[in-house]
Amino acid sequence: MGRLFETFSLDELRLRTSEKWTHYAVDVLPLWVAEMDTPPLDAVVQTVDKHLRAGDTGYLNGTNERQYMESCRNFCGRHFSFAPNVEHARLAQDVITALTGVTHGFLNSHSDLTDNNAVKGVVVVSTPCYPPFVRRVSLGFEIIDAPLAEDYHFDLQTLESAFEKAQRLATENKTRALYILCNPHNPSGTVPTRVELEKLAKLSAKYDIAVLADEVHCSLIHPNVEFTPYLSVTGVNAGETDAVSFQSASKGFNLSGLKAAMAIPSASQGAVDAVANAPGELLASAGQIATLAHTAAFNKGDEFLAQLNSEIAENASLAGGIIAHKFPNAKVTQGGSTYFLWVDFSAYMDIARAKGYDSMTKFLIDEAKVAFTNGENFSLTGNEFRSFVRINLATSRQLITLALDRVGSVL
Ligand SMILES: Cc1ncc(COP(=O)(O)O)c(C=O)c1O
Repeated sequence: MGRLFETFSLDELRLRTSEKWTHYAVDVLPLWVAEMDTPPLDAVVQTVDKHLRAGDTGYLNGTNERQYMESCRNFCGRHFSFAPNVEHARLAQDVITALTGVTHGFLNSHSDLTDNNAVKGVVVVSTPCYPPFVRRVSLGFEIIDAPLAEDYHFDLQTLESAFEKAQRLATENKTRALYILCNPHNPSGTVPTRVELEKLAKLSAKYDIAVLADEVHCSLIHPNVEFTPYLSVTGVNAGETDAVSFQSASKGFNLSGLKAAMAIPSASQGAVDAVANAPGELLASAGQIATLAHTAAFNKGDEFLAQLNSEIAENASLAGGIIAHKFPNAKVTQGGSTYFLWVDFSAYMDIARAKGYDSMTKFLIDEAKVAFTNGENFSLTGNEFRSFVRINLATSRQLITLALDRVGSVL
């Protein structure tokens, strides 16, 4: 296999019609939304081709549904030595829809929906946090922030006081509270250790907080880094606390346009019920072709992923090196997973401000013609992380270098 990220030229990538390649004007280099510039996995192409040509484009049947869940279970077994029980799992169109559905499944059944003044559920998140957790999943619920520490790992004291507050508010309003865990973490790429997750599990038991673990990036773990599935953690694996893992082949294999995902509850009755109670209009099932494509990816993508992760790690060192050289006062975080680099350009904000910008990302789009993802989107208010950018490294070394050269021409 040649280098995946060097397969397509810039001109070829510009022929793509997806969001990444069409949102900005053609003079802007797009290193933003979570899409990868890789070729597809052959097994996915063959599967989609075979079923499309056969006209097999009807409704998803139970066998294909089961096989997708089993392919995910087996994938986890091979990669993390932990195969979750998928007996009570449910499919959804995508991870955010699944998270939204299960959040409602948890909170609606524990809340007094007739009392208009009552809080209908409490959701704890940790900023910087993937924007749809707040803008979609938790809409209509009370949101409490438990910001991560400076190294983007948990700050256990902060987490505990947020859980205590969440439990108090939930009790006063006769409702329930939950925490959305991003494991591994987008945007920083940090991978919580087993010990950290055990501490989280203990806090969740102490304050009766259900944990919804978004693990969609779990296949994007850099070489020699260990990922711990939340459902495998002591206490959680015995079903002592309510937890649900959210999985999909969408991120690891660049299949976001082929929508399929699943919610896998822990053995606790509360988690099983929450998944079962997720409203059908939110947890609508996945598509037939998408499910078959994801199954092929989970079953046949190990070699592709190994190559991908080593190229991503190399891209991270390339970008980190260029940034350290060109912008020595920028703070770079890359915690060993995902294809993101989270960069704080606070030391350079004066340059952006002098041009009338209070957002580094907006400044760089207009002035350097490079689009990264807006740091402020990862805050609750839109006011924090204005000097931060999230760089998408799932591209060629040439485009990473070109993008950072352009940044260098204005900073
Ligand atoms: C942490 C996280 N969760 C969910 C998603 C979106 O997944 P889906 O397209 O399956 O909703 C993303 C996409 O980048 C993500 O980073």
